[in-house]
Amino acid sequence: MSKTAIITGASSGIGAATAHRFIELGHKVINIARRASPVEGVINISADLSTEEGAKRAALEAAESAVKGESISLVHNASLMLKDTVRECDTADLMRVLAVNVAAVNTLNRELLPHMVAGSSILYVGSTLSEKAVAGAHSYVISKHAQLGQMRATCQDLIGAEIHTAMICPGFTDTEMLKQHLGGDTELMHEIGSQNSFGRLVTPDEIASVITWAHQSPVVNGTVIHANLGQMER
Ligand SMILES: NC(=O)c1ccc[n+]([C@@H]2O[C@H](COP(=O)([O-])OP(=O)(O)OC[C@H]3O[C@@H](n4cnc5c(N)ncnc54)[C@H](OP(=O)(O)O)[C@@H]3O)[C@@H](O)[C@H]2O)c1
Repeated sequence: MSKTAIITGASSGIGAATAHRFIELGHKVINIARRASPVEGVINISADLSTEEGAKRAALEAAESAVKGESISLVHNASLMLKDTVRECDTADLMRVLAVNVAAVNTLNRELLPHMVAGSSILYVGSTLSEKAVAGAHSYVISKHAQLGQMRATCQDLIGAEIHTAMICPGFTDTEMLKQHLGGDTELMHEIGSQNSFGRLVTPDEIASVITWAHQSPVVNGTVIHANLGQMER
């Protein structure tokens, strides 16, 4: 009987690459996002994770579709990134970012954990910005730091359940989110992407391989995994 991977935001970028990897491993893969996943064989649950109602309904549908009695890998990958600073960060915008990046994660954990047996995992796709800040991404930095707290608290709360958790922190990765944040400037994107030991952007598939490895490696429980090709620190 196949196992299940439930991935938020498997409609593009890192999430889609992760869906592809889990399909190759023989998992049943469920995408929770507003758009469908481009990956063949994925079950799509259309949901807007910015509302509690959307996240809760998606969790219930995902639980129904998951293979009963087998392990689940729940991958919190969907994320909203806005441009803002401490000088003008609007409260409504901050709450919107926290709704997708933090509250929906909480809802999915709470609603899906009763269906998760030993051998399951809860994996958080964090960011370099889960542990440090850069200018101009105020609400995103707050939310990514909060996710790190969620991962650590998840580990402590699940002691004895044989369900492990980890946070995978990608460096600059070649996806729509990065392109959008840089105003569609592909040249700037590659310039920024060269600020690591290998002089290139991380590929979504490289992050996906770390995510599937983390699912298969309960030893990394409570761990932050940096996946950034050796980012240059400034
Ligand atoms: N790219 C990078 O350089 C980088 C670096 C560090 C960390 N990350 C992290 O990597 C993860 C994946 O991002 P990505 O780079 O692959 O970006 P992406 O291609 O833009 O994917 C973002 C995903 O989030 C989903 N999403 C956003 N808002 C949503 C909502 N309200 N409801 C449901 N789904 C929503 C999108 O799905 P729909 O639009 O279909 O709803 C999309 O599939 C994020 O957690 C991001 O913070 C990325």
